[in-house]
Amino acid sequence: MSVSLDRPELLDTRLFINGEFVEAHGGEFFAVKNPATDEIIAQVQRGGGREADIAITAADRAFEDWKLRPANERAGLLKAWCAEIRANRRDLAKILTAEQGKPISEALGEIDYGAGYFEWFAEEAVRAYGDIIPHAREGTRVLCLKQPVGVVACITPWNFPNAMLARKIAAALAAGCTVVCKPANETPLSAIALGVLAKKAGIPDGVVNIVFGDTPAIGKALTSSPIVRKLTFTGSTPVGKMLAADCAATMKRTSMELGGNAPFLVFEDADLDRAVEGAIAAKFRNAGQTCISANRFLVHETVADTFTAKLVAAAGQLDLGPLIHERAAAGVRELVQDALNSGAVEAGPPASPDRPNSAFFGPVILSRVKPDMRISREEIFGPVATIMTFSTVEEAISLANDTPFGLAAYMYSRNNATIWKVSEALHYGMVGVNESSLSNPAAPFGGVKESGSGREGSKYGLDDYLDIKYVCVGI
Ligand code: SIN
Repeated sequence: MSVSLDRPELLDTRLFINGEFVEAHGGEFFAVKNPATDEIIAQVQRGGGREADIAITAADRAFEDWKLRPANERAGLLKAWCAEIRANRRDLAKILTAEQGKPISEALGEIDYGAGYFEWFAEEAVRAYGDIIPHAREGTRVLCLKQPVGVVACITPWNFPNAMLARKIAAALAAGCTVVCKPANETPLSAIALGVLAKKAGIPDGVVNIVFGDTPAIGKALTSSPIVRKLTFTGSTPVGKMLAADCAATMKRTSMELGGNAPFLVFEDADLDRAVEGAIAAKFRNAGQTCISANRFLVHETVADTFTAKLVAAAGQLDLGPLIHERAAAGVRELVQDALNSGAVEAGPPASPDRPNSAFFGPVILSRVKPDMRISREEIFGPVATIMTFSTVEEAISLANDTPFGLAAYMYSRNNATIWKVSEALHYGMVGVNESSLSNPAAPFGGVKESGSGREGSKYGLDDYLDIKYVCVGI
């Protein structure tokens, strides 16, 4: 293994079930690769349906005790886990960079972001208040209890291997649920490292379980089990739809944080330097592999040339990491070629050397892009900025909403009336106004339309893991 750590025990390759690091029954492994070098970092245990079933049983058993613990005790354990994560942030970031490819500065940022969810939900755990509602019938009292939904399946992607798990697990545990996690096979090492620290922090056996390997078999075990009462997924819209359909047979609750096609609107009165700064963050964070990544730049025709020139200059200073693998880079390259064939023009930055058979690609900025091009309709998931123009506020709103997705949108304007009109008219779950860093634990993260349902983080994030029980008391 080629990651040098202060605490080498963080780099485990086994499944984490019922508080133990275990091998898979089939005796099979799969390789985890470094996208920057294609080097194999580790051979990891390949679990399957059998391991998922064992993990579900462990989580179910642990739930009986965990749900009864006082909220402040659960909060204390989440804080202890958070402290372990913060104390080991450098090692966790090194593991993350090795298996995911993002630069170490971004990996450190992700570890801090993830730790923030543990802290946030430790503090929310003690605020899962119920209600007493004024009764409508004499001689009765109406109570609402908030109770944990039960065992939760958490399926997470490779683009934020630490933070996406953190914001699901922290909320679930705070509510009194137990979890079976299935991280992406590209990035299981960050998940296992979290398991190592969970154990060290004293999270009771079976409260957190982590399985990976045979994705379809594990997915089937999680979606079909009547014990699992909720599934929370971050990933693509097609997979989210499939999982939601599979969950219907047992009527599980679901939270789906799915794909996006974020518009980034720049109005003629915008502060263009601020807009470019926001554009760089919204487009090129994680090399564009973010669900809330700006996918379509819609710029007023009178400022489009200036905005484009400034964006090209800023993008020329970037030092991007690789995409997750060569296949991903090839897909983005193909989208760019399709746009060029359909009339788009490469505006810059001055040729960064293309490395065709690698995971490296871009940055690329395309102008003269049209709404009906594939690159405007699909989620790019790579470091390509596409620029279209508009001439009226109404046209901007209509172009922005012309997609089945509805996760994040951004707008830059100095006009109060435009800000209110546009932010209210955008069919999106999140809107950045003169600001593009939307993600933080205090904020409700989530989308509308085919970008999914449910909210993660914020005071609302706990509700996704709580059932309301109505108790009618006769007096
Ligand atoms: C995502 O890409 O799904 C999450 C991004 C974030 O939390 O900022």
